[in-house]
Amino acid sequence: MDRIYIRGGRPLKGKIHICGAKNAALPLMAASLLTDGTLLLSNLPDLADISTMAHLLAELGVEITMKGGAPGRVNSGRVLGLTAETTSATTAPYDLVRKMRASVLVLGPLLARRGRARVSLPGGCAIGTRPVDLHLKALTALGAKIGIDEGYIEATAPKGLKGAHILFPMVTVGGTENALMAAVLAEGETVLANAAREPEVADLARCLVAMGAEIEGIGTGTLRIRGVEHLSGAKYTVVPDRIETGTYAVAAAITGGDVELVDARLELIGAVADTLTKAGAEVCETPGGLRVARTGVPLKGVDVTTGPFPGFPTDMQAQLMALMAVAEGDSEITETIFENRFTHVPELCRMGADITVHGGSAMVRGVPGLSGAPVMATDLRASVSLVLAGLAAEGETEITRVYHLDRGYERLEEKLSACGADVKRVRG
Ligand code: UD1
Repeated sequence: MDRIYIRGGRPLKGKIHICGAKNAALPLMAASLLTDGTLLLSNLPDLADISTMAHLLAELGVEITMKGGAPGRVNSGRVLGLTAETTSATTAPYDLVRKMRASVLVLGPLLARRGRARVSLPGGCAIGTRPVDLHLKALTALGAKIGIDEGYIEATAPKGLKGAHILFPMVTVGGTENALMAAVLAEGETVLANAAREPEVADLARCLVAMGAEIEGIGTGTLRIRGVEHLSGAKYTVVPDRIETGTYAVAAAITGGDVELVDARLELIGAVADTLTKAGAEVCETPGGLRVARTGVPLKGVDVTTGPFPGFPTDMQAQLMALMAVAEGDSEITETIFENRFTHVPELCRMGADITVHGGSAMVRGVPGLSGAPVMATDLRASVSLVLAGLAAEGETEITRVYHLDRGYERLEEKLSACGADVKRVRG
């Protein structure tokens, strides 16, 4: 298994290019199932999760072509062409779904276009139980018949799907995406109320519109969809990754550096930018993206509560905690989206952080410095928070289970090294 070694203490200086968003790319790829035309997606990141989705779609009869990447890697192209015309396979097998929960996003499009879907239940995961009950309720409201058999969701829509008024009892990104992809081909009008407003949902909706869907209210909590008979292919460019942006913004702040995040967009990271500014960093727009710097100003503790967009993203909670661990004063970090999303806390404490968890809140008492240590984490964002802590720590940090990082960060060590960090990956 690969390991990453970091020697901390160097301020990051330079430019980092921000990739297309993984969490936008995955539903966009699934949307290719809705048409027999070719969906041409550009600005896709080169990540393990994108390969997993490509494999799943290939199983479901989607032909995939790539352009512009290193040879021999399924998702190495920045541009993927997806054409779902060949077969009528409808099963998403356990082996792929267990690798990546977002596989469940094929459910809505399969039902809408092929009238049936058999998708393995994702099961538990490192950051909580994460049920899919709201996805299933929404699809049932659209007329699907859904049962569970031998660990699989068995869904059919023998008479096709029909528009409905669906009120989500809580904000769900994946649930909104699945319902949206089903509703675009349903008969009549669908209203999705209390829909997720995350930029990745808006990106999916815009791509569906480019394919011929009729959707109003994009970017708001109420999506109105008028079903159409069929969709066509389209060309679409994936939105920049706001979590990758936020992560490197924290890297600049925690090291006292000065970094330009090329292609990053301020409107995607409003809550994170506000928090970093309160903590003592400078965040401003540049012609090419964003500049994040902290030069000579001490870090200050800031209280933060995660919430649905435009709130502070749960996917940035672990990274912010690494920053707060070395800030002056205390900060309280409250997680409201996922239970059990504090697996980074004991590892940060092993590096010298002073953090205690009570239920959904972590009390972080800032310390003057961290020290390098061997650490490992159980999920993507927890792992990257340890990388950030390692960049600020004195001495060497060894990070194992690097495969978590590879699911969400393209060429992480390369990007950090180019800005002066002492980071290396040892393969094995
Ligand atoms: C997506 C993101 C993930 C991010 C999360 C919240 C992708 C591929 N993943 O995950 O990185 O952390 O949004 O911004 O885009 N819930 C239910 N029933 C359901 C669905 C969700 O109870 O049927 C609960 C979840 O357990 C959680 C909350 O709703 O507590 C929000 O989850 P959701 O927004 O659905 O997250 P994902 O779409 O899985």
